[in-house]
Amino acid sequence: MLLHIENVLDAATVARIRAKLDAAEWIDGRETVGPQGALVKRNQQLSDASPLRVELGREVLAACARHREFHAATLPVKILPPRFNRYANGGTYGAHIDGAVMALADGSQLRSDIACTVFLSDPESYDGGGLIVDDTWGEHEVKLPAGDAIVYPTSSLHRVEPVTRGARVAAFFWIQSLVRNEAQRRTLLQLDTAIRQLTGSGADADAVKQLTSVYHNLLRQWSET
Ligand code: NI
Repeated sequence: MLLHIENVLDAATVARIRAKLDAAEWIDGRETVGPQGALVKRNQQLSDASPLRVELGREVLAACARHREFHAATLPVKILPPRFNRYANGGTYGAHIDGAVMALADGSQLRSDIACTVFLSDPESYDGGGLIVDDTWGEHEVKLPAGDAIVYPTSSLHRVEPVTRGARVAAFFWIQSLVRNEAQRRTLLQLDTAIRQLTGSGADADAVKQLTSVYHNLLRQWSET
């Protein structure tokens, strides 16, 4: 399930983050991939050791945590601290698959169920740079307004098209979800959405309570920590 989540960051926050990133020191993005990824990755990133990466990463995650739809869609149990990347001057990242298990700073590991990209460039400001996600329904091109996010299953092959004008700046990270199975996550999101719509339209309160109970009972059955 590819899901477009709007307004994870508001315009003022995007502008503030971009001002800091535009003045930052960028390094070769191949620092953080294995040998296969290094063959196809041509972009720039903030160094993993950069204090700015830590500061801005916390800010992005705090905004995600406040965003109701983001939370309902991903049900995070662990999140890899965000990285920031920049594609310009033909920068690209060829088709690849992300690692299934990633190391966290505390020595624990994260199973990468969901990948997330938060766009930080106005799509009019650059050419190319679409994120192409290849799932069971074919290829999808994703190029979203600054401040919006895409979440997609990490099981998908994906790539970033060459940027031929301007710069594409984004934050990206991986999530281990409470619910590992994608179809189950989708069912829970549909149920959550229906409950919210029924509540908003003044539906019978007892029936809404029953549905809410079903939601939590399914989450209890399907979640793992
Ligand atoms: Ni990737």
